[in-house]
Amino acid sequence: MKNIIPQSFNISAENRRTLKKHKPLLLWFTGLSGSGKSTIANAVEQALFIKGVHTYALDGDNVRGGLNNNLTFSPQDRKENIRRIAEVANLMIDAGLIVTASFVSPYREDRENVERIVGEANFVEIFVNTPIEVCERRDVKGLYAKARAGEIKQFTGIDAPYEAPLNPAIEIDTTKTSINESVALILSQINSHLALE
Ligand code: PPS
Repeated sequence: MKNIIPQSFNISAENRRTLKKHKPLLLWFTGLSGSGKSTIANAVEQALFIKGVHTYALDGDNVRGGLNNNLTFSPQDRKENIRRIAEVANLMIDAGLIVTASFVSPYREDRENVERIVGEANFVEIFVNTPIEVCERRDVKGLYAKARAGEIKQFTGIDAPYEAPLNPAIEIDTTKTSINESVALILSQINSHLALE
């Protein structure tokens, strides 16, 4: 960018990794509202924390309450939502953290952009593939009822699209897989990141 000259610092990402004794990573949970993204991410973070891993959890409603509180659910704003989150996650990876990110992130192109920003080696896409009927039956936040009543427009799965991942690293159907099983599956896949060598 014009007139922007990046500053370099003496403490490198490698130095921070060595101090933390594990590699950084982004665990990207995508799926419908109510699919169980945050629940699984929460359990994964707890399991990592107990192992002494340095973590941070980024989550849809939380980020939209602050950093992204000027964004709507239009396709353009969802794109910007996901782009900013990817940049934040990238900084956290540079800081040496294992980051969980739970966002509907309904557009394939936006998720591919996340992978581009953080780098393929740092990105694990986890598709929380819970059928919409189940999400709607759970309706934990009452949002599906509001969307059906026309009180919320552009609600994913009702009147806005969800583009399922074509080749996710991990796929979980919460009607068939328990939270503990999901955590075990994810930890087994990222085992190589939990130690430095
Ligand atoms: S996105 O599509 O990735 O930009 O969405 P995200 O930032 O993850 O925010 C999703 C949460 O916002 C609530 N909500 C909606 N979701 C989807 N569509 C519409 N129109 C909508 N309006 C509000 C909802 O609580 C989502 O949280 P989760 O945890 O996914 O249920």
